[in-house]
Amino acid sequence: MSADAPAGQTAAAKANPNGPTEETVLAVEHFTDRLFRFRLTRPKSFRFRSGEFVMIGLLKEDGRPLLRAYSIASPSWDEELEFYSIKVPDGPLTSRLEKIQPGDKVLLGRKPTGTLVLDALTPGKRLYMFSTGTGFAPFASLVRDPDTYERYEQVIVTHTCRDVAELTYSRNLIDSLKDDPLVGELVGGKLALYTTTTREAYPNMGRITTLIENGKLFADLGVPPLDPSTDRAMMCGSNEMIQDVKALMLKAGLKEGSNAAPAEFVIEKAFAG
Ligand code: A2P
Repeated sequence: MSADAPAGQTAAAKANPNGPTEETVLAVEHFTDRLFRFRLTRPKSFRFRSGEFVMIGLLKEDGRPLLRAYSIASPSWDEELEFYSIKVPDGPLTSRLEKIQPGDKVLLGRKPTGTLVLDALTPGKRLYMFSTGTGFAPFASLVRDPDTYERYEQVIVTHTCRDVAELTYSRNLIDSLKDDPLVGELVGGKLALYTTTTREAYPNMGRITTLIENGKLFADLGVPPLDPSTDRAMMCGSNEMIQDVKALMLKAGLKEGSNAAPAEFVIEKAFAG
């Protein structure tokens, strides 16, 4: 990159106007030896809808980009971009990405997309966001978007992880929202975070699928069972988690939606490598 090239306009980016831009790392926070988040500069021309994903990555030694799909964890109005990532010891990308420091460069694709967007759901009363592990990322975006609270009377985010430390990001983020200048007044009484663990002692334990099936989730929250006339859902996690939660949505009578045909629930696989 030449010293005078503006951010996102490197020689490589100019050579390929559809290729990734090069963004600067602004902050990095490690939660556990498996999880971290980081923030990047956001090009002025980069537009997305809260809940979408984009390709991000690093240059390989041969100078070619190594890119993976990542949910954007920041809301669409934010001037910066935030991402929440797993660290896989021999993962081709994450083993290098976990070492980034402020000032380093990360590649950012130009075409955000995805189905975990409010537009892919029909109107309803209550919105569930079911997540496991890094599947919380798109919901970190949506819970910070005022549109979410304009469209739904109640927003319930569930996050299930193996151990308590892995819940740090979601718990800190949701806790900070009450002081947020944009959504602080909207979240009060509307937003609930429901956290559970599966492998470490915690007041609330169990897979979300079990807690939906045995009704504990609804009893704990004081809400009626899933009802297609009022409830909408988004889910993000491993392939197996999505398939299992999807089966429970279908059983409750909710239909799967998409950008082209909005309906009652939408799914997306969390980044995993
Ligand atoms: P478990 O510990 O019983 O496997 P991971 O870190 O492997 O992505 O898992 C994140 C969380 O998702 C864990 O608490 C895990 O529970 C849970 N999980 C894994 N598979 C499923 C599934 N098919 N349905 C619901 N939850 C799942």
